[in-house]
Amino acid sequence: MLKINDLHFAYGRIQALRGVDLELEDGTIHAVIGSNGAGKSTMMSCITGLNKPQQGSITLDGEVLPPAPHLIVKKGIVLVPEGRQIFHNLTVEENLLIGGFTVKDRGPGIKRAYEMFPRLDERKHQRAGTLSGGEQQMLAIARGLMAEPKILLLDEPSLGLAPLLVNEVMSIIKHINEQGITVLLVEQNARKALAIAHHASVLEQGRVVRSGPAAEIAKDESVVASYLGKKRTADKGGSI
Ligand SMILES: Nc1ncnc2c1ncn2[C@@H]1O[C@H](COP(=O)(O)OP(=O)(O)O)[C@@H](O)[C@H]1O
Ligand SMILES: [Mg+2]
Repeated sequence: MLKINDLHFAYGRIQALRGVDLELEDGTIHAVIGSNGAGKSTMMSCITGLNKPQQGSITLDGEVLPPAPHLIVKKGIVLVPEGRQIFHNLTVEENLLIGGFTVKDRGPGIKRAYEMFPRLDERKHQRAGTLSGGEQQMLAIARGLMAEPKILLLDEPSLGLAPLLVNEVMSIIKHINEQGITVLLVEQNARKALAIAHHASVLEQGRVVRSGPAAEIAKDESVVASYLGKKRTADKGGSI
């Protein structure tokens, strides 16, 4: 289990996290919903070792995570960052190979990636920058899987995608979880995230204000009012 306990993080004078607690149970999808600026990406950066928290702890099966990002990847925790961050000038396959830099033999991973994402197979020699938004998101997820994660952290995978593609990405996330990978899914698209998650937490101004089974969170009155009230708002995606 990945356990976040009383996590605090500030960018200079901007206090982004003010005591985040979260338990990510093995084998589950845990959705973290919250509006823009709530601290979701900051929390992800703390888990992956890119941000050093000022207070609090993150443990995996009772052990504090190692201090460096590449060591955290070796523990099986892999982030698919917000905004994809693929290498536009490299080919699809080169992007995948970079994702698997910690793995000795990347052949099987590449094969699995192309089985899961046939569209990437068709475009493996194409520069990643020429892919559509949806394909770039698939590539970002496939690249994350190349590191053979036990825990996959997904930061707003639906951001900027058309509704049909959002559904496709969500069913891929479900499929990945069914293969035994634990998923921490950060989303502004609360409706879609809650539909596939087992557990959910609501992050507001750097604190988890609600947490529980996803089905219960989806029925919570204040969650409905703030995040699920109007379909139009929930489906709008990000606004940066
Ligand atoms: N690099 C940064 N420097 C300064 N402030 C930042 C930086 N990144 C994020 N913040 C601030 O920290 C808060 C949380 O941001 P973020 O974690 O990106 O939220 P979310 O991912 O939920 O939209 C916001 O107030 C944001 O403006
Ligand atoms: Mg974010």
